[in-house]
Amino acid sequence: MKDTRYDFESVIDRKGTNSLKWDFFGDDLPMWVADMDFSVAPAIQKAVMKRASHPVFGYTVVPDELFDAYIGWWDRRYGFRMSREEMAYSIGVMPSISSMIRCLTDVGDEILIQSPVYHVFYYVIEDNGRKVLENELIYENGEYRIDFDDLDEKLSKVKMMILCNPHNPIGKIWSREDLARIDELCKSHGVILISDEIHCDLTDPGVKYNPFMPSDNVVTCLSPSKSFNIAGFQSSVIHTKNKELLEAIKNQMHIDNSDSCNVFAVTAVMAAYNDSEDWLEELKEVLYENKQTVKEFLASELPVVKLVECDATYLLWLDCSALRMSSKALSGFLRQNQGLFLSAGSDFGRNGDDFLRMNIACPPELLSEGLMKLKAGVIALNNINRLSKNI
Ligand SMILES: Cc1ncc(COP(=O)(O)O)c(C=O)c1O
Repeated sequence: MKDTRYDFESVIDRKGTNSLKWDFFGDDLPMWVADMDFSVAPAIQKAVMKRASHPVFGYTVVPDELFDAYIGWWDRRYGFRMSREEMAYSIGVMPSISSMIRCLTDVGDEILIQSPVYHVFYYVIEDNGRKVLENELIYENGEYRIDFDDLDEKLSKVKMMILCNPHNPIGKIWSREDLARIDELCKSHGVILISDEIHCDLTDPGVKYNPFMPSDNVVTCLSPSKSFNIAGFQSSVIHTKNKELLEAIKNQMHIDNSDSCNVFAVTAVMAAYNDSEDWLEELKEVLYENKQTVKEFLASELPVVKLVECDATYLLWLDCSALRMSSKALSGFLRQNQGLFLSAGSDFGRNGDDFLRMNIACPPELLSEGLMKLKAGVIALNNINRLSKNI
């Protein structure tokens, strides 16, 4: 491990903090839900503690400085220029997408997503009485790409497409060419494109994601919650150049009560974007090292499981097709046999069924434990299969 200024090695006991990851699913080693087992950047903790030392926690408004923090971050890092009037605050990316679905589409409409994809896209569409239309990504020679002919055909049937950029769970940064083709197709079919860019900062060191071009039919969702491990504060913004769209969405978010602000979120978000950039850069190195550890481990110790190469997110997509088992059964077996909790690939769509998703945003000690359990689980599975063949 390289020298780091910040502590990414200590194992932090998160039990007893009402953690979704650690407190609600028994004693399994949780390598599923997308939050990190690292402490936040010291600047964030300090700012939140300072605010907590003031003993009144009443209703809070979103200051312009919070929008300035977003604007500065995207301008400085990605050359993506936003202005305050083009943005709106929301308590989260999924609440914003839910509001957009309600105000920009009708009950019964189909909405396009690219599977395998973040499972909550399915729920938010279906829970709002809309239908999922899948543009299945093509998996060939260990890589994913977009089926543009299918996309073109399916965009003619929808009013909205939700893009995951970079893509969870496959960890892919969409290229400028891919984004330009998607943009062109959405425009030609009059489709509103929602670009969920929540994972955008978590790229391999030296690699940058490509923000979606801010044209008139595009709404971008941004949030520091993944990058800085502050999902519990529930905070995000949307950005669009289209004034009419923005007004409609703001109005719906107001109806949905999703535009209000958590007293600590304001403080945490500003400390993240304004004072924690060096922490993020170190984090990216640590995640990259973890990824290399997994890659080397699988290649030498468990070649039956293949890592799908990726350049973003801390979520690894493991090709388990050689095990010839449904992902639900496989993840269930690993939980039962080894106490290892990985996400079943089928959670992210039918075409995810040959895969498991593994969250590697944890100290090396937990990562090694997870890998040992994975190997032991696969060996146990093979032994059972061998035995049952002999019966
Ligand atoms: C692609 C994607 N979008 C949105 C979210 C959740 O965002 P929020 O907590 O702001 O609703 C996640 C969380 O894992 C995600 O992976």
